[in-house]
Amino acid sequence: MRKPIIAGNWKMHKTVTESLNLVRQLTMELKDVKDADIVICPVFTALHAVGQAVDGSNIRLGAQNLFWEEQGAFTGEISALMLKDVHCEYVIIGHSERRNIFKETNEDVNRKIKAALQAGLLPIVCVGERLEERKSDKTFEVVHEQVHGALEDLSADDLESIIIAYEPVWAIGTGVNASPKQAQEVHAYIRKIIADNFGKNAADVLRIQYGGSVKAENIAELISQPDIDGALVGGASLKVELFAGIIKNALPENKDAE
Ligand code: 13P
Repeated sequence: MRKPIIAGNWKMHKTVTESLNLVRQLTMELKDVKDADIVICPVFTALHAVGQAVDGSNIRLGAQNLFWEEQGAFTGEISALMLKDVHCEYVIIGHSERRNIFKETNEDVNRKIKAALQAGLLPIVCVGERLEERKSDKTFEVVHEQVHGALEDLSADDLESIIIAYEPVWAIGTGVNASPKQAQEVHAYIRKIIADNFGKNAADVLRIQYGGSVKAENIAELISQPDIDGALVGGASLKVELFAGIIKNALPENKDAE
C-alpha cells in the first residue's frame, strides 16, 4: 500500500518568526503521526530556520521552487544544492501559479525535475487543467501533455523519487474542490500514463496527491479513492488546527474504511 503524503504549500505567506511559530505548534500537534508522510513548504527565507525547527521530528522540509543551474549569474534564483544545504528533502515543481503567473513551460518543469533528482531532492510535480480547459473537455489532453513534458527522458528508477500532484486550477483557493469522482478519474488517468511509459511497477508505487481546496471535511472521501494518495494543501496548511485536521482524517484507517 502507498503511504499517504500530505504536504503544505505555504505559498508567499509568513515571516521567519511567524513560520517558526506555526511549525513549533505543528511538531507538537502531529508528533504521534506515523502512518503518513508530512511535508511543509515555507518561503525561501524561512527554510533554514524551519529546517532546524523540524529536525528530529516527523515533519519533512520542502521548497516551493528551484532553478536548474547549480550556481552562477542567475539573479534571484535558488539551486537544488542550496535547498539541500538547508535540509530540504522535497521541492514543489511546476505549480500552476508558477506556470500561469511566471510563465513556466513544460520544458522548464522537466529541467527543474532533472536538477532536483540530480541533487537528491524529491520533486512534487504539479499538473492540472484550467476552468476553460475543463469546460471544453480538454482536461485529459492538458494533463497528458503536462505529465509527458515534465517526465521526458526520465527513467522508471527516477519515477520512484517523484510525487505527482493533480491540482485543477479552478479548485485552487476557491473553496470548491474537485469531487472525489472527478479527481479519481484524472488520478487513474495519470497512473495509466505512467504505466504505459514506465511500466506497471513504477505506476503502482507512484504517489499522486490531490490539491485544490482540501479541508479536514473533504480529505477522507478524497483519499478513500483508489488512486488518491495524499494532498497538496494551500490555504488550510497555514493554520495548525486545519492542517492537523486534514492529516488526521487522511490516515490509512480512513482509506481502509471505504
Ligand atoms: P488551496 O488548498 O488553498 O486551494 O491551494 C491548493 C494549492 O495550490 C496547493 O499547492
